[in-house]
Amino acid sequence: MQGQVFFKYLILSGLFLDSKNIGLRYDRIIYKEYSLFFIINLHVDPYYLESSDPTSFCHRYSPNPILNIAGKFGILSTPCDTPYPLTNATFEFMRSNFKDIDFIIYTGDAVRHDRDKLFKRTEDQVLDGHRRVVEYIQQYFDLSKIKFMPSLGNNDEFAHNQLPKGPNDLFSNLSQIWAPLNLNLTTHFLNGGYYRQDIHSNKFSVLNLNSMYFYKKNKLLEDCNITDSAGALQLEWLERELKNARQEKRMVYISQHVPPMDDTNVELYSPSCFYSYVQLIGKYSDVICGHFTGHTDKDTLAFVTADKEKDKYSIFALNETHILSTIATNNVVLTLTNAPSVKPTHNPAIRLYEYSTTYRNFGVLKDYIQYFVNLTEANEIGEAIWRVEYIASRTYGMNSLGARDWAMVLKEFESPDSETWRSYVKHITVSGP
Ligand SMILES: *[C@@H]1O[C@H](CO)[C@@H](O)[C@H](O)[C@H]1NC(C)=O
Ligand SMILES: *[C@@H]1O[C@H](CO)[C@@H](O)[C@H](O)[C@H]1NC(C)=O
Ligand SMILES: *[C@@H]1O[C@H](CO)[C@@H](O)[C@H](O)[C@H]1NC(C)=O
Ligand SMILES: *[C@@H]1O[C@H](CO)[C@@H](O)[C@H](O)[C@H]1NC(C)=O
Ligand SMILES: *[C@@H]1O[C@H](CO)[C@@H](O)[C@H](O)[C@H]1NC(C)=O
Ligand SMILES: *[C@@H]1O[C@H](CO)[C@@H](O)[C@H](O)[C@H]1NC(C)=O
Repeated sequence: MQGQVFFKYLILSGLFLDSKNIGLRYDRIIYKEYSLFFIINLHVDPYYLESSDPTSFCHRYSPNPILNIAGKFGILSTPCDTPYPLTNATFEFMRSNFKDIDFIIYTGDAVRHDRDKLFKRTEDQVLDGHRRVVEYIQQYFDLSKIKFMPSLGNNDEFAHNQLPKGPNDLFSNLSQIWAPLNLNLTTHFLNGGYYRQDIHSNKFSVLNLNSMYFYKKNKLLEDCNITDSAGALQLEWLERELKNARQEKRMVYISQHVPPMDDTNVELYSPSCFYSYVQLIGKYSDVICGHFTGHTDKDTLAFVTADKEKDKYSIFALNETHILSTIATNNVVLTLTNAPSVKPTHNPAIRLYEYSTTYRNFGVLKDYIQYFVNLTEANEIGEAIWRVEYIASRTYGMNSLGARDWAMVLKEFESPDSETWRSYVKHITVSGP
């Protein structure tokens, strides 16, 4: 039935066996038939050793037992990656509670970091890392019913941060490894690592970009003002897709790993890529109803604003420093969300979105639930319990997650003493260090 929103109940009681630390208890959460979630920066490390020394990236034991403090489920604020027990607990939680999701957006970084000089990654290990994620998805979800859409992280290449222009071996290897996901990996993917995936028979599209072709740290990249550079070609493709979507009145989400800037407003793209990207998403903000990134492991927001007179767009991100009194919060045209990761830089996190399925607003984001594991507690009790950290509609008093709704939240953020601003700050590092 078009124009109708369907409701269903998901019984979540029993999940929050111990709610003493979260101040929240939802026995029943109501949400609409269609929802999605995404997980990010999984960084599964098959070589993670419990009770090892974090200064060895959790790969070795120290002769000094005091240093062997790596927890079963990971360890906060260290360079160690995600152990199997946390990965398994995450997939178990998703499988038992979210059978009816439509798709999963995965903003990349499947493979462990290559930080351990004594244990460098091999090319085979990189490909194994990608295979492992596909195996998890196959094992835990029915791929004939849901789409799992990965994009490339900056640790997903054979060399950290480095990806040559396509076609290249990585793209051809991935098109084979990802084959069970049944994705729309056309020649654009083989040449550029990006692809468009339509959902619900063409009602809307997810544009999965390859941010490695904008990323400043990719030394094999030319800036986007160089004709036929990998970044320029991706921008051309993106503009074609956005124009097309506008003509067909079809909404899109953009998903990619690296955001245009980090939360301290440092540009992460090459100068010309950064400028052109911001102008492009500003110009087409009417068809972009979701913009998802990962990379920094933080729960932060960024806003694209329009300078109507000059026909130019700017962008700013928010961190825990209160700067809003000096920033015009008017003219917000687009909100970019950066979601925190399962990898325990901060507490592990996954996010579930709900979106509208009404005819006119198909794809418009309605709400999200941020889930987290208290990692300290998990290691203490030997069990990783996923709980609700917060729900956007309640924490920010929003009815919907459009640009105008966020602009109202920004108004509240202007007061550093407001509850909404304090919530934002607390959640940046997933309610922990
Ligand atoms: C994680 O799950 C995999 C696949 O089911 C299983 O082989 C493995 O033993 C599990 N590992 C842990 C630590 O639970
Ligand atoms: C990766 O791609 C290269 C080039 O196509 C090919 O030679 C190699 O066999 C592939 N490796 C795997 C594991 O698929
Ligand atoms: C696959 O991608 C191509 C090129 O971007 C696009 O024209 C086509 O509609 C897409 N198909 C699906 C099913 O997403
Ligand atoms: C937040 O970002 C501003 C720039 O927008 C920067 O000056 C400040 O140091 C950042 N604060 C933190 C805590 O990172
Ligand atoms: C590309 O942009 C960069 C940064 O703005 C600039 O330094 C460079 O001269 C430009 N190159 C060309 C060929 O326009
Ligand atoms: C996490 O657990 C620890 C230890 O059980 C507790 O001290 C802390 O308050 C908890 N944090 C949150 C955000 O629940």
